[in-house]
Amino acid sequence: MQILLKKGSADGNNLTTLVVFAPEQSGTKVSLPGISKDLASFINEAYEKGEFSGAKDESLCFRNCNVAGAHHVVVVGLGKAETNDYEVARRGAAVALSTLKAGKIRKAGLDLASLGKTMKDKAKVVQVVTEGLMMMDYEFDWYKTKPAKKDKKAFDGVEQVALLGDSKANLASLKKGLEAGTIIGESINFARVLGDTPGNLMTPDILAKETTKAAKGLAKLKVTVWDKARIKKEGFGGLYGVSLGSSQDPRFIIMEYKGAAASKKPIALVGKGLTFDSGGISIKPSQSMDEMKYDMQGGATVIATMLAVAKMKLKVNVVAYVPASENMPGPAANKPGDIFTARNGKTVEILNTDAEGRLILSDALAYASEKKPAVILDAATLTGAMVIALGNTHTGVFSRDNKLVKKVQDAADAADELVWPMPLTDYHSADMKGAHADLQNISAFRGAGSSTAAAFLENFVGEGIPWAHFDIAGTGWNQANRYPYCPKKGASGALVRTWVEFIKNSK
Ligand code: BES
Ligand code: ZN
Ligand code: ZN
Repeated sequence: MQILLKKGSADGNNLTTLVVFAPEQSGTKVSLPGISKDLASFINEAYEKGEFSGAKDESLCFRNCNVAGAHHVVVVGLGKAETNDYEVARRGAAVALSTLKAGKIRKAGLDLASLGKTMKDKAKVVQVVTEGLMMMDYEFDWYKTKPAKKDKKAFDGVEQVALLGDSKANLASLKKGLEAGTIIGESINFARVLGDTPGNLMTPDILAKETTKAAKGLAKLKVTVWDKARIKKEGFGGLYGVSLGSSQDPRFIIMEYKGAAASKKPIALVGKGLTFDSGGISIKPSQSMDEMKYDMQGGATVIATMLAVAKMKLKVNVVAYVPASENMPGPAANKPGDIFTARNGKTVEILNTDAEGRLILSDALAYASEKKPAVILDAATLTGAMVIALGNTHTGVFSRDNKLVKKVQDAADAADELVWPMPLTDYHSADMKGAHADLQNISAFRGAGSSTAAAFLENFVGEGIPWAHFDIAGTGWNQANRYPYCPKKGASGALVRTWVEFIKNSK
């Protein structure tokens, strides 16, 4: 699908279909500024007859109506005026696209004048609309064989959406919004591809190769990949040990983006790249085990964010680390009771091989700390307890640094993603002390499983480095139709928008 910016009306651009946006009303006529008189009377008739209320996520398609210079018109509800924010625009664009798809409409113009009247930053309106369109256009369907002989008339998706700026609008500034939205949309969809691709086709080696391929040609971005021997040699006892149960070798993916002076301390990103989590010897129940292919979604967040940062040419330094492995119960697998030494010299007794994310992250966090970054952010599908606590709406954020939490919250607000601060205290740390090693990989007590996991990770973060851990076990996978722009079941690409915003703000 192509998204482009055009000046003027549907009529002036030879578009057969026009998408407009209208606020929520109940049975009364309203003036619809920016919408032509003829079309406004069509919409008002729909309001009056109760066929359309303008509620958020509602849409109505007038086919063959021939108004406002268009053959068909789609009207999308904006909800109440006070909820008329950028997220409404993002959702509205997604609803528009699904309505076009349902109507098998190939090309349409989207009227920006009827959208975002209360939104000051018009370039950002274009950005979020582009994000909504691109996220909505994603479908995990590429393993379905296509019919050999294609019927030329068969509908094969929406081909083009033109964003129609009013004639006064500054197209050059709107273009910046289109560029940013395209980069973010592409990056989120890339993270989804990584998460949705099954374990047999997204092994640690494939993940590393796909990352290298995606980064190719991007200025100032370098990718380095360590193999199993190097991982062992570097003292990554956690990552090495977890990988031993699998026939697939582990990888350690390093991405470095140098957009600012070398003297500027980098931001470090770390992401769990567990390409399939069977639980290992502490094997998981078979129900929904297939979903454990997205256990590398933290790694995907990191990779997607790096690609976005490099494409946006941000003037920052960012380094990223993705430990990648399978967790399988093969003959050489970790066994309950096994003890390993992590990169920073700390020893860990493995009491449950299914708590493997924290093991592979231990080395990565320790290694990231050696680079003395300004801050470390990590993302991981770390605990089932996180899904129980916050479901798939909010990403749990664990940090002892309140200033950092505030910055994270601001970034999430600006990106319209939901994060929620979770406790991380000395009580949780105490529960992770080991009986036979420095640490044990599961808590000595029941409850607060996400907090004790975060407390475990904290042992590998260098002294004095601001650090926040994001548990995306819930938000990394979409379960329902909560967001019109997320697949109903599949990798969501959550957190990429927040992290890009955070990095932008750090300049
Ligand atoms: N990958 C899982 C966590 C997970 C669960 C992610 C559900 C997404 C959805 C992780 O490796 C795991 O299995 N954690 C264990 C830890 C426990 C053994 C302390 C868990 O949460 O059950
Ligand atoms: Zn696990
Ligand atoms: Zn896992």
